[in-house]
Amino acid sequence: MIHQPPVHFLGKTLTGQPVQKQVRKLKDLDNIFLDQAAFSAADMNRVVYEVFSYLPVDEGTEGGLFFGMTHLYPGTVGQEFYMTKGHFHTIENRAEYYWCVEGEGMLLMMDKHRNTWAEQMQPGSLHYIDGYTAHRVANTGGGILSFGACWPSDAGHDYATIVKNGFSRRLLSVEGKPALV
Ligand code: F6R
Ligand code: ZN
Repeated sequence: MIHQPPVHFLGKTLTGQPVQKQVRKLKDLDNIFLDQAAFSAADMNRVVYEVFSYLPVDEGTEGGLFFGMTHLYPGTVGQEFYMTKGHFHTIENRAEYYWCVEGEGMLLMMDKHRNTWAEQMQPGSLHYIDGYTAHRVANTGGGILSFGACWPSDAGHDYATIVKNGFSRRLLSVEGKPALV
């Protein structure tokens, strides 16, 4: 028997069933940005990013893989670029791939000892995120930043640790250029 693929990945879009769409607005990113005054003054309904995920097996299944496309819009809150919430995986040793399809950005990674470093994202860049490593992406360009992701279906997402403790370094826009401080 020959089957049609259930999901189509065309450039930077993902269509078909079951593709889950998640929208993160500024109001979903409370306690993420440093400049709370700038955050409070901003439009809370502003969409910061959208994630289209293909989840072919149940969340928590051991041995399966999930696939996602994230579209992160350009913008700043105070001196910080729009960025994803960032997370560790709940099963901490689970690794992930990110790859950039469009735009310019930075992938911030932080290990369990709170060492933070960054990798530049540009179309074609491939990023291996080891287990035990928190990950967050910032859009440092003037247009949309789109990247793919592939992660184990039992990885889970621990956002709480990042909301509480943050990353040990922040990516700021200094004279329009990204600086990890
Ligand atoms: C999955 C993964 C990505 C992110 C997405 C949004 O493990 O890392 O698909 O979920 O880029 O970022 P977060 O989840 O940090 O809001
Ligand atoms: Zn992840």
